[in-house]
Amino acid sequence: MEIKVNEIKRIVQDTKSLPTLPGIVLKISKLAEDDKSSVNEIAKLISSDHILSAKVLKLVNSPFYGFSGRVSTISNALILLGVNVIRSLALSSSIFEIMEKSVVGLWEHSFGSAVAANTIAKKLQLPDAEEISTAALLHDIGKAIIKIKLEDDYNQLISIVKEKDISMIEAEQELLGVGHPEIGEWIAKIWFLPEKLIEPIACHHNVKKSIIHKTKTAAVHLADILVKASGFGFSGDDIVPRIQTAAWDNLGLNEKLLEEIVQETGDRLIDAKNFSLEVQTGGEK
Ligand SMILES: [Fe+2]
Ligand SMILES: [Fe+2]
Repeated sequence: MEIKVNEIKRIVQDTKSLPTLPGIVLKISKLAEDDKSSVNEIAKLISSDHILSAKVLKLVNSPFYGFSGRVSTISNALILLGVNVIRSLALSSSIFEIMEKSVVGLWEHSFGSAVAANTIAKKLQLPDAEEISTAALLHDIGKAIIKIKLEDDYNQLISIVKEKDISMIEAEQELLGVGHPEIGEWIAKIWFLPEKLIEPIACHHNVKKSIIHKTKTAAVHLADILVKASGFGFSGDDIVPRIQTAAWDNLGLNEKLLEEIVQETGDRLIDAKNFSLEVQTGGEK
């Protein structure tokens, strides 16, 4: 099994075969890493790619973030959300475009989770609500990577889930010897994502494992479960896990709060239903 895991790691980490990552996204990552680069420089770089800018603005104005006004420029988006969020949005827009076309259910599950996470963050007044949404949007990125890079394995996973009536993560452990949270963590590190996004990706199925960003991880864990329970999208299996005690305690939840969150998430998901990242040529301002 260890040989298999190493082989998977090699395939996943081979950035040359990540067709979904345009050079510009890596350039943004490098600029964002460099303390000396200014917000203006990053804004200029993103704005130089019209399609990417349109997609990033579309995500910023999407139901995930719930801004009341319209954010119309990349500079404003950077000021509102910060460099790290915009960088991960640029990344997610590239990767999710593929998902949107190929694994619609997973795309819906991911953006549903972002909406739920944003609702949770606002309701519980958690800091960094936008980053929590972004972490939720990316939480199952490992599954997208399996689908993109190991398509045969992905199809086999779907069959195992159906045959054995087990969860996707159990099937991954069985077939690959490694789960999507770990695969997501590998890729997030390659993309130089900040630790506050990496931890929720790596620990959303085991909140206790998170060390620094427990609250963000707990919020993403809960968002994932709420979206699965609501039947919105399809993450690969139909099993709704229990909310882990570590998450429940960390978020200071109670039955009443949870009920309100479920209600508000449901309302917002109706708005989100028709959201698509597809950018009509010439139609996006
Ligand atoms: Fe997951
Ligand atoms: Fe999920």
